[in-house]
Formats: sequence, structure tokens, C-alpha cells
Amino acid sequence: MEQVARRDLLLGTCAVLATVPLAACGQRMSEGGNGTLPARATSAGALTVGNDLTVNRLGFGTGRLGEWQRGAGLFRRGGLQDPSEARRLLRHAVELGVQFIDTADSYGREYEIEPLIYQALHPYPRDLVIATKGGLVRSGDRVDKDGSPAHLRAACEASLTRLHLARIDLYQLHWVDPKVPLEESVGELARLRTEGKIRHIGLSNVTLAELRRAQAIAPVVSVQNPYSVIDRASDDVVGYCERAGLAFVAYGPLGFGGARQDTTPAAARLAELARRRGVSMQQAMLAWLLARSRQILPIPGTTSVEHLEQDIAAAGLVLTSAEMTAIG
Ligand SMILES: NC(=O)c1ccc[n+]([C@@H]2O[C@H](COP(=O)([O-])OP(=O)(O)OC[C@H]3O[C@@H](n4cnc5c(N)ncnc54)[C@H](OP(=O)(O)O)[C@@H]3O)[C@@H](O)[C@H]2O)c1
Repeated sequence: MEQVARRDLLLGTCAVLATVPLAACGQRMSEGGNGTLPARATSAGALTVGNDLTVNRLGFGTGRLGEWQRGAGLFRRGGLQDPSEARRLLRHAVELGVQFIDTADSYGREYEIEPLIYQALHPYPRDLVIATKGGLVRSGDRVDKDGSPAHLRAACEASLTRLHLARIDLYQLHWVDPKVPLEESVGELARLRTEGKIRHIGLSNVTLAELRRAQAIAPVVSVQNPYSVIDRASDDVVGYCERAGLAFVAYGPLGFGGARQDTTPAAARLAELARRRGVSMQQAMLAWLLARSRQILPIPGTTSVEHLEQDIAAAGLVLTSAEMTAIG
């Protein structure tokens, strides 16, 4: 049903998926906009997060929009140096139908990504969900976990200020802090929810056991973990989210940019399918996630408008059940 619906929603030349490279579908035919419009995130179908936030099932990750990015607990250079280009990407993502923007207070070395989202997109479209996170603190070049109630409260209130919001639609605990019982961290998020500062609670980087412990404290509507055709460590969490109706926000959906087709046998088979379809491996990886479970919401990150359009165009690439089984 869902695959038929997605296929029906395809626009323009992108409808002929078997013959037209999706990379081409992601590009305008002319600068003046008279040609084919890029495919839209709508083609991915919709997912309802927490019973009341319905979004197109392909989001946008903002972790690369600042010059400084986090990697292995340290800041390093490598992201976008130009804030105006970051704002352009954010606006274009929304133009292309993205309704779920993932961010975190700790993205960018100087907490600058949330303000960029405000500058680019405020007044926010009614159907836009900005999902942010708290639970990490910067100390010099290092990033450490802090899941204490006091820190989470201060972080949430600072995000509300930076985003100019009265309430955050989805507030995610970025990492479980081993120094703080998970129950205490989630308990504080529950209090922020009761106070109306958070609409929904999400978790990130959790095991299934941690998710179950958190659910005993407060309603949890989403989990954000690394997941892709080459990283299946969260298979159990995906299965649980599917059964429980939670959103599974897949981060690193493109293997953090390092995805090689020979990484795993499944990736090699997916790469072969991509070649046959005339699409890129990145587009095939996003299509694989969309087909893997209807609870999955991939959030690819990019610093390039061209890549953004190609990623969104992947919303229109349908992998059949037989193809998914063959990829394994
Ligand atoms: N919860 C967490 O702890 C956590 C951790 C990490 C990330 N995240 C979130 O997840 C989002 C996505 O993860 P990610 O950005 O680290 O990794 P990713 O989406 O797996 O990969 C991004 C990489 O792929 C490249 N790329 C994107 N589209 C492409 C295309 N069409 N063709 C070729 N290359 C392409 C990008 O390079 P270009 O810039 O050149 O396009 C970049 O190097 C982040 O932005 C962030 O919002 C969350």
C-alpha cells in the first residue's frame, strides 16, 4: 500500500524511475525554474511522531552546517564555513518538502546551529518539526556527556531561547550519561514536558534495554540511533519501534560519508542495484532505509545543495520486498 502511494506521488520525469537517473531528478533543468522541479520529500510518504506530528518521512540533519563538527568526542574542522550557505541549505530543504529538521544544542562549536535554523526559517512553517537534543557539554575541544537534571533543564531552556520557541516539538536526550541514572535524566525531561516546554520526549544513542527503562518513566516517541545498510547494530531497536509505533530516526544514514559499496555483502548488493537503476549509492542507501521499516525517518546530512537535491530525490526510489530480501 505504502509503496504504491509513494510511487503515485512521484513528480514529473522522476516518475520513470527505472530509466531516469534520480541524480538527474534532483537537479533543476534551468536556473530560471522553468524546467523540472526537484523531487520532493513528500514522495517518501508520511510518519506520525507521537500521535500528533505528521511529517514527510525524509528529514534533514544539521550536524554539518557549522565549520566545526564533532567526531569521536572532539571538535574538528570540516563542515560549512559560510553561515549564509547553511541558511540557504535549510531553506531549500524546506522548499523540497522536508518537515523534520534534526539538530542539537551542541552542533557547531559555539552552539551556532540552532540560531542558524531560527535565522533561516523563522517564522516557522506550521508543519515543520524542529527536533533538538541536549545532554552534551563542551569543554575546550572535548565534548562530554551531562545528563544531570540541572544541565538538561538549562540546556532545554537555552534551546528554547536560541530557536525562539515556546515549546520544542521533539526534545531528545543526546546520550545516556553513565554518571547519572537514566531515570533521573528522563525524569527531568518528563517534568519539562509537564511544564509545556517540550511536546514530546525522544532518546538518542540508546540500547533497547535503555529505551525500555526510559519508557517506564515517561512516554517516549522516538529513538535516534546510527543505522544504515552498513550498520545494523540497532536492528533490535528498529524492530521494537515498529511494533510499538515509535519513530526511528536513522542518523549516519549514508555511513557518515564513508560508505563504500564493498563494506558489507548487503552494501555490495545494494550498490549493484544502484548501478542497475542508474542511481547513486547514497540514494540507494536512503531508499533502503525507507523500505526497511515504515517507522524509519532518515536524516541525511550534507553541505551541498546538489547533494541535498539528490538525497531528497531518493524519496521517490522504491525498493520492492523482493529486492529488499535479495539485498539481505
Ligand atoms: N544523535 C547523534 O548522536 C548524531 C550523531 C551524528 C549525526 N547525527 C545527525 O544525523 C545527521 C546525518 O548524519 P551525518 O551527516 O553525520 O552522516 P550521513 O548523513 O550518513 O553522511 C553525510 C556525508 O555524506 C555526504 N553526502 C550527503 N549526500 C550525498 C550525496 N547525495 N552524494 C554524495 N555524498 C553525499 C556528505 O558530504 P557533502 O557534505 O559533501 O554532501 C557527508 O560527508 C547529522 O547531520 C545529524 O543531524 C546525530
